[in-house]
This record gives sequence, structure tokens and C-alpha cells, in this order.
Amino acid sequence: MLRTHNCGELRIEDTGKEVTLCGWLQRSRDLGGMTFIDLRDRYGITQLAFNMEKNAGLCKQARELGREFVLRAKGTVTERSSKNPKMPTGDIEIFVTELEVLNESQTPPFTIEEETDGGDDLRMKFRYLDIRRESVRKNLELRHQMAIETRNYLNLQKFIEVETPVLIKSTPEGARDFLVPSRMHAGQFYALPQSPQTFKQLLMIGGLDRYFQIVKCFRDEDLRADRQPEFTQIDCEMSFVTREDVFETFEGLAKHLFKAVKGVENIRFEQMSYQDAMKYYGTDKPDTRFEMRFAELNTLAQGKGFKVFDDAELVAGICAEGCAEYSRKQLDALTDWVRRPQIGAKGLVYVKYNPDGSFKSSVDKFFNQEQLQEWAEAMGAKPGDLLLILAGETHATRKALGELRLEMGKRLGLRKSDTFSCLWVTDFPLLEWDEETGRFYAMHHPFTAPLKDDLHLLEKEPAKVRANAYDMVINGVEIGGGSIRIFDRELQEKMFHVLGFTPEEARNQFGFLMDAFRYGAPPHGGVAFGFDRWCALFGGSDSIRDYIAFPKNNAARDVMIDSPSRVDPAQLQDLHLKLNIQDKEE
Ligand code: AMO
Repeated sequence: MLRTHNCGELRIEDTGKEVTLCGWLQRSRDLGGMTFIDLRDRYGITQLAFNMEKNAGLCKQARELGREFVLRAKGTVTERSSKNPKMPTGDIEIFVTELEVLNESQTPPFTIEEETDGGDDLRMKFRYLDIRRESVRKNLELRHQMAIETRNYLNLQKFIEVETPVLIKSTPEGARDFLVPSRMHAGQFYALPQSPQTFKQLLMIGGLDRYFQIVKCFRDEDLRADRQPEFTQIDCEMSFVTREDVFETFEGLAKHLFKAVKGVENIRFEQMSYQDAMKYYGTDKPDTRFEMRFAELNTLAQGKGFKVFDDAELVAGICAEGCAEYSRKQLDALTDWVRRPQIGAKGLVYVKYNPDGSFKSSVDKFFNQEQLQEWAEAMGAKPGDLLLILAGETHATRKALGELRLEMGKRLGLRKSDTFSCLWVTDFPLLEWDEETGRFYAMHHPFTAPLKDDLHLLEKEPAKVRANAYDMVINGVEIGGGSIRIFDRELQEKMFHVLGFTPEEARNQFGFLMDAFRYGAPPHGGVAFGFDRWCALFGGSDSIRDYIAFPKNNAARDVMIDSPSRVDPAQLQDLHLKLNIQDKEE
């Protein structure tokens, strides 16, 4: 070993020891008679001290060193005269007797400290330098711990980790595939898996009973803070289970992770149907850290001459506790906020429930005090509260009100990052109608079983069929999703038919699975968790990028390695490909 200790472990008890440390020069201070260097490695920072009187040569050498030089320093652990209680090693310093420069460094493009001067783009380009910063390193350590604890828990529950292939077959469902051209088979392509869905089902047919994998998945879709083109799932499948068994097993995983990684106990899971989630929260992933449920006001508010309400399919509102004192300016700003294209509401109706019990609203012309009192009762409001009401087409109104609810929750400090509210959302619709293509799509995926009670509707009223599908939602983040699967060949064929596949198309794309169903497929079901999302949630961040060592930017580029990029024409030729685009300067 080039070192005897790391830069985070020496304490006052070590005083007098001869030690050798290695690390990077974070900062140096030249005080004339003394020079100090902060030496950093993964474990911490230790101060090196050089004394002009005692060793002028070394001291001069130390003064010449630049930031991020890689050093090896030998010396004696000494008690500091001015201690730094903020640093774990702050009671000591190393009085250096030998110094070796292991490597030099150019001046880094940004300061490698918590309060860095580097912008996002620069830090992405020099990600290996960003990783030297404590917060980025801590995120990767958190990710590591999550993975280890996941494996520990699932191993104890008899799950076995199996690797499934990365070069698979394109299935044009869900998101777009990333394709890989085949050299050996001209004109043919592999696809990178959007998830190992069909393979894990085949493993159940293979009798493995309980499978999991921490696995890379690839989806060519528009990026957001919680989406990357390549991301990681904790992918799981179980045989001979009902969804209650799946819930119990993975509530167990969640509780284990909460305890082992966050030190949080007493995690409880609620269940809510998709239909209730939409009706009361306007989203299929409600943040249930706070109530503020929607109240529907159609019967109370329609037919009183206010056209906006009378023409609306839905009139619904939320009660913002203690906000009756909102000023005109604040209400106007809130109205502008809901009108933004991202939210899409046409306007906002407010009712102030004044502390004296009277009401002041933006629709006083149409509604009297008694009527407003009725609204307030329907919404469970009390004096001092503010009612915020939207109206319009049902789906759009619920969506906009859902956004407003989140915004008010944030403003009222109800979305604390150290509070966790866990939920299973159940009974999703099996299918979604797409206007553009004029066909149904599977809301989860085509292998999801319909709820038994709705099976008879599959052919005549497919839109009404509910799926035995569920999402795990924590604090309004969709952490995972899964379902009980179809394991019967006939039902699977019927499902493909409803999805508009011809028997040939179904055979071409999923023949292998349908064939496997002939050989005694067990009932099975499972779930996959967004591992990056779970890490970000535990780390208290909205962005999964911070928890991925080498993420892509919003344009799906890796700016560090410059990918995607052009390839040599000879490579294209090998792959039997010819580019059909203008050779333009980028
Ligand atoms: P689903 O498509 O819901 O289900 O994906 C499971 C979970 O993966 C996460 N996720 C993502 N994370 C980051 N970037 C993305 N682009 C991205 N897309 C999805 C989400 C999501 O809940 N095979 C099924 C699971 C099953 O049925 O068992 C599947 O992939 O957290």
C-alpha cells in the first residue's frame, strides 16, 4: 500500500504516530512561516503542515503545488494549535517530513468543493472531477448501499438474481426502442430491452419461482428530471402469488430499505384505487403526505347563472388551510400560475372564508353567502381558509387542480423531504384509447391480467376493463409498477386481438411467449422499481441524474464522452447501413 491511513480516519488519539497519506490537494494556505495543505481522498480531508524554520526545502516545495495535484505525504500526527470542530480530523494535522508528487494536475475547470463555481454543463463534461465532490460521492455511496440492502433482503426472501440478455427483439409497444444493427444478419436489428418483462415471465415458466435483477433498461423517450434513456430497475417476479402477496413482499423490501438506509421505521402502506386517485387528487401518483383532497361542487355550484360553471363537465376545488389572508396580488399571481400552458386552466375561482365567518369570493355576483357556506361545508373548510376552484372538462380540470394542490402543498410546507407516505395505487384501466392511431394501447403492458370481475367486458367494452396492475407511489413519485400476469395462452391471444394485433403480428412478436404458455405456465406476477428514482427520493432530490455516475443530459447526450457520435463509414458498411441524411456540420 502506498499509504498507512486514509484522509478521514486520524484522530487526537493517533497523536505521535508516523503515518503516510495519499490524496488530492484541495487547498493550500501560505502563512509565511507555515504552509498548510488540505489533503482530500474519498474518506475525508486531513491537514498537512509544513514549517519554514524546521524544513525550509519541503515548505518551499509545498508552496509550489497546485490544486488537485496527487500527493503522498509522510509525517507525524500532531495536535493542532487551532482546532477545527467542523472536521472529523480537525483536532490533528500531519507534520510532514517527506513529500512526493505522484501526479500533477492542470488547474481544474471548476472548484472541487461543495460550493462549486462550476455550472451544470461544465460539471457534466468533467464528471470525473465532479465525482470528487463530497455530495456527488455521497449520492453514489447511497446508491451502493441501496443495491446491497436490496440484494440482502431479496436473497433472504429466496429471490435469485438472474441476468437476462441485453440484445433482444424489438417490440413496438410502450416507448421507442434503441436499435442495434446486426453485422451477421444484414438488414436485421437487435433492440435494447425497455425492461426484462418477457424474460422474467419465461423464468417463472422455467420454475425459478422468485427472480430479481438490478438491471439496466433502455427507452428512447423524452427526458425529464425523473427520466433517463438508460436507467436501472429492481426487476422482480414471483410465481403462485396474488397481488396481496406481491404487496406484502415488496412492502417488506421498502421497510427494509427505509430502516437500513434512512434509519426510518414505522413505514405504513395505504392502498387507493386509480379511480379514487384521479377523483380526489387528479393524478395516478398522489402525494399523500398531505390531505387537501378535491371536493366536487357540480350540484352546489351549477345552475346559478355563472356560465363558466354551468358549461363545465366538472367543478372541483381544494381548501388551502389558513390562506384566507391571501392578498389580491397573491391571488392574481396564483391565477396566472394556473393559466400557464403547463397547467392549462382557463381561470381560477377563489372564496375566502374570513376569520369572522363571512365569505369574499371572485364570484360574489353569482353566489350569495349561504351558497358559499354550502361550498365551504362540502370542502370541510373553516374560517381562515381559502377555497380554490377550477372548472372545465373533467380530465383536464382534475389534472390542473392536481398541480395546484401540489403547489399549495409546497407553499404551505406540507411536502417535507423527511416525511414519507407510501401508497399502492391499484386497479388501473387495462387499456388506453389513442385518438391519433385509433386503437387501444395497454396502459401497463400487454401481459397484464384483467381483473377477474371485469373479464366479461374485454371484448364488448374494453375501455371499462380494470387491470390487476399496481404502482408503488412514495411522496408523489412513481417508484415502481407491476401486475399479475396473464398466464393463459387463450387470454393472451384475446388481449393481443383487443390491442389490434393480427394473429400473425402477435405470433411474429410474441410467439416465443405464447408457445411457452403451452407448457404449464404457473400463475405469476411481479413488479419493477425505478432504482434511480428510489435513490433520488432517499437522497432528497427530484433529479435522478445526481444518483447516476455518468448520466446523459436533457438532450440525451453524454457530453463527457461525446455520445452519440458519428461512426466511421467502414463501420456502417459492415453493418449494411447507409445514412440517409445530409452531411451537415454540427
Ligand atoms: P414500468 O414501465 O412502469 O414497468 O417501469 C417500472 C419503473 O421504472 C421506472 N422508470 C424509469 N426511471 C427512470 N427513467 C425512465 N425513463 C424510466 N421509465 C420507467 C419507474 C417505473 O415505475 N416491466 C414492467 C414492470 C412489471 O410489470 O413488472 C415495467 O417496466 O419508477
